[in-house]
Amino acid sequence: MKLSSLSFASALTCLVAAVPAPVPEAQPIDFNSLQNAFGIQPLANHDIPGDSPVALCDVEDNHLLRIDSVDIFPNPPVRGENLTINAVGFLAKEIKEGAYVDVEVKFGYIRLLRQQFDLCEQVENIDMKCPLEPGPLSINKTVELPSQIPPGKYNVVARAYTVDDDQITCLLASVEFPTIL
Ligand SMILES: *[C@@H]1O[C@H](CO)[C@@H](O)[C@H](O)[C@H]1NC(C)=O
Ligand SMILES: *[C@@H]1O[C@H](CO)[C@@H](O)[C@H](O)[C@H]1NC(C)=O
Repeated sequence: MKLSSLSFASALTCLVAAVPAPVPEAQPIDFNSLQNAFGIQPLANHDIPGDSPVALCDVEDNHLLRIDSVDIFPNPPVRGENLTINAVGFLAKEIKEGAYVDVEVKFGYIRLLRQQFDLCEQVENIDMKCPLEPGPLSINKTVELPSQIPPGKYNVVARAYTVDDDQITCLLASVEFPTIL
């Protein structure tokens, strides 16, 4: 359980480094209960265009990364299969070494993981390298999801910051892996 949750989390972390993650089939996501699970104030307009289970959080704050769209295929993601992520955005400022991302993963309402990752190490998983230059950003990446991920519903929140603690982005996602494949 621990190991697979960790690799799941790092898969999600690289999404976060610039983008998205997974979700429940055709059902609208209940963003309010998702935000409540993390004690985040519900907000009206937090959706990111595209076909993905990812939403913005902390939207009242200034973010250095503007995310224009996130698409994942398949949506929802499937354990043991490849997940392709396409994301487009715009970075307002250079991101240097020392940037970090705080990731929290909940399994239902149980906290599985709360950890800080080095953002520059994580972006190497999506074939990028620090310093990240300001300007348009486009990510097109396929990752293989481990088949050992325990079935269930995962809620993820990731907040990324520069070395000077300026917020880069805040992303929320809810992913459900059904018991039967
Ligand atoms: C995922 O994609 C890689 C590279 O295209 C491929 O080698 C691998 O077999 C794929 N895995 C699955 C489970 O489809
Ligand atoms: C991403 O890569 C796939 C496979 O190479 C390609 O079919 C798709 O058009 C690409 N998407 C973007 C947005 O570049």
